[in-house]
Amino acid sequence: MDQHTQMKGKDFLTLFDYTTEELTYLLELAKEIKAKHKAGQSYQPLKGKVLGMIFEKSSTRTRVSFEAGIYQLGGIGLFLSTNDLQLGRGEPISDTAKILSGYLDGIMIRTYAQKDVEELAEHASIPVINGLTDDFHPCQVLADLQTIEEVKGKLAGLKLAYIGDGNNMAHSLMVGATKMGMDFSTAAPQDYLPQDAIVQKAQALAQETGTTITVTTDPIAAIKDADVIYTDVWASMGQESEQAAREQLFASYQINEELLSHAKEDYLFMHCLPAHRGEEVTADVIDGEHSVVVQEAENRLHAQKALMVVLLSD
Ligand code: CP
Ligand code: NVA
Repeated sequence: MDQHTQMKGKDFLTLFDYTTEELTYLLELAKEIKAKHKAGQSYQPLKGKVLGMIFEKSSTRTRVSFEAGIYQLGGIGLFLSTNDLQLGRGEPISDTAKILSGYLDGIMIRTYAQKDVEELAEHASIPVINGLTDDFHPCQVLADLQTIEEVKGKLAGLKLAYIGDGNNMAHSLMVGATKMGMDFSTAAPQDYLPQDAIVQKAQALAQETGTTITVTTDPIAAIKDADVIYTDVWASMGQESEQAAREQLFASYQINEELLSHAKEDYLFMHCLPAHRGEEVTADVIDGEHSVVVQEAENRLHAQKALMVVLLSD
């Protein structure tokens, strides 16, 4: 079976569920789709398809890139806020999944608990795409990998250092990098390192791909000789009340010129955005010549179009 047929109809809940070959196929397709888009060529393999987009958290990039993407592919996206859905008033996830499966061709969901997305996928008969949970953000990492490959010309053999909170981005980057043959290192204060269970699962994967995963509290050790430096906000959506405390705790993990002096000279700076300048990264770095954050955000469109073409096409 080819990669396309193999992935058709699948859910996209975490990168653990996709092989290196499948991810490579998605990245290749994303590249072709981007080239077509840039050339102004129409490409509409999803004519008549409808994607439901459930949002329980805010979004700029995910919402707009999915909505524009499905439209460009010939389909349409429905923005469904949990403030308006009966789901937000306590209708069971299982009922919602079954009912929406009768109307739609795919569901993208952004919410808090990963287990809610898994429950939705279990009861839906159509593909479910994780548009961010507290634990994972796989769509972002697809675009990130596409961006690194565009700029560096390869993925395998590079080192990606993620400095900051052990959150959804840390987890998905760890898995994505490992699957693609990259070494991964991360640094955060002890109580904010990525979840043990996820690190262990990723470590087992690293054995298979012959890569390394380093988890440390020392930002200099983590960033040493890295090709790609990544960070994210110190307080994610839902953690707003911890903002002030986290600013104190994470102060020495800021990505600034001093810390970057330990990275490779031709390092790339990446951030999923939205960013807090002056907190996790200085303005001169995120707005500087090594930063690819705008290209990275644009690639959300192309990478997710590839994902939708593969999962939702007939
Ligand atoms: N990076 C990202 O997912 O951005 P949004 O929260 O704007 O969707
Ligand atoms: N870690 C951030 C990512 C936003 C795209 C959050 O969950 O708020």
